[in-house]
Amino acid sequence: MRKKIVAANWKMNMTQAEASRFVEALLLRDVGEITDVEVVIVPPFTAIAKVTEALGNAQNIKVGAQNMYWEKNGPFTGEISAALLRDLFVHYVVLGHSERRTLFGETDEIVNRKVRVAHEAKLRPIACIGETLEQRDRGNVEKILAMQLRGSLAGLTPKDLQETVVAYEPVWAIGTGRTATPEQAQEAHAFIRKTLREMADDTTGEHVRIQYGGSVKPENARELMSQPDIDGALVGGASLDPRSFAQIVKAARER
Ligand code: 13P
Repeated sequence: MRKKIVAANWKMNMTQAEASRFVEALLLRDVGEITDVEVVIVPPFTAIAKVTEALGNAQNIKVGAQNMYWEKNGPFTGEISAALLRDLFVHYVVLGHSERRTLFGETDEIVNRKVRVAHEAKLRPIACIGETLEQRDRGNVEKILAMQLRGSLAGLTPKDLQETVVAYEPVWAIGTGRTATPEQAQEAHAFIRKTLREMADDTTGEHVRIQYGGSVKPENARELMSQPDIDGALVGGASLDPRSFAQIVKAARER
């Protein structure tokens, strides 16, 4: 049985003060006591330490980062390494988000280098894939997903694959208010799991958790996450409000 994982991707939002207030509000809603769903908060780098501090003893809520560089250290102005993230008690790192791919030129090869380095540093990657609307309209969803998955996760051992979270985020559903239907999302997730089985073995395919991302809200979260191959959500806009994020986490518990 895969444990559901719901993550708040704050993107380029939230000052330190706002981050503290968010965590306090989340804990007041008893999200700190939930153990049957893994909860991850992914702040901008500048608020990571503040979130960890505000979480205090609520150790079931993990902290993630939105990106990292693959080099260990050195003259890479503006970049952050896996070791620097570990130093901040970060557990997860989102890699290859579609915004990084489209705005900052990240390719599957770049994402793959980062994913491998994350595993070496014992950080768990949340590797993002997803097709554009044009690719969907042309009937290329499976082709694109297979290419991104095989490229971004190339060369991983079955163990590392099992410890990777895949986020399926159709680009046309990100920040648009237009969610994939539960059927569309389930179809893509089932295909991703089938591809993971082919890349490694059946056990690995069954273990990997696949999150859905793209306009997830309290109103659609339960139906999406009750699909057999949808193991949680990567939430953008709705994760900026503690009330709606708590509702989405709670929706992951309902079967
Ligand atoms: P929205 O939930 O705002 O559509 O963003 C999804 C996303 O990109 C999460 O990583």
